[in-house]
Amino acid sequence: MTSPRLTLRYYGDPVLRQKATPTEVTPDLASFVQGMFECMYRAEGIGLAAPQVGALRRVFVLDVLPEAAPRVKRAFVNPVITERDGTSVAEEGCLSIPGIRHDVKRAEHVVVEALDEMGAPFRLEADGLVARAIQHETDHLDGVLFIDRLSAIQRKLLDGKLKRLAAEGAVESSGSSPSL
Ligand code: NI
Repeated sequence: MTSPRLTLRYYGDPVLRQKATPTEVTPDLASFVQGMFECMYRAEGIGLAAPQVGALRRVFVLDVLPEAAPRVKRAFVNPVITERDGTSVAEEGCLSIPGIRHDVKRAEHVVVEALDEMGAPFRLEADGLVARAIQHETDHLDGVLFIDRLSAIQRKLLDGKLKRLAAEGAVESSGSSPSL
């Protein structure tokens, strides 16, 4: 199967602020998903949403290996988070916002319902890092970035760095928390 070589979009690109629309399970979907995995691995991320490669389809991929839970490597097509419980604060980074990391408050536990890239429905219960990744990627499908989840003061402290990032394009990432 040949997959398209997809290119990451960065903060400042208007496509990251648009809402993606539900996608049909078309014959090209599996190769698009494969291309998304390849793009994510090239960037050393653990999650990637379609708007991050300029496609406004409700699709994201994850390859998360949590410390105390099974690996989650799969595509989520037209995902809907049906349950959210608890709270968790942990550092997050985003492949589209290189160089910026911050603690973000998320639900600790979620239930998500989605299709796989062949159109088969599934339901996944997730905690911790997997739940965090699902929430981060679902936000991308709505044009929401993790920096939008910060308090006004936290966001203001990042303003200069974000303006530079939008003006100058990609910068090298630093830090060790996973990028999504
Ligand atoms: Ni992201």
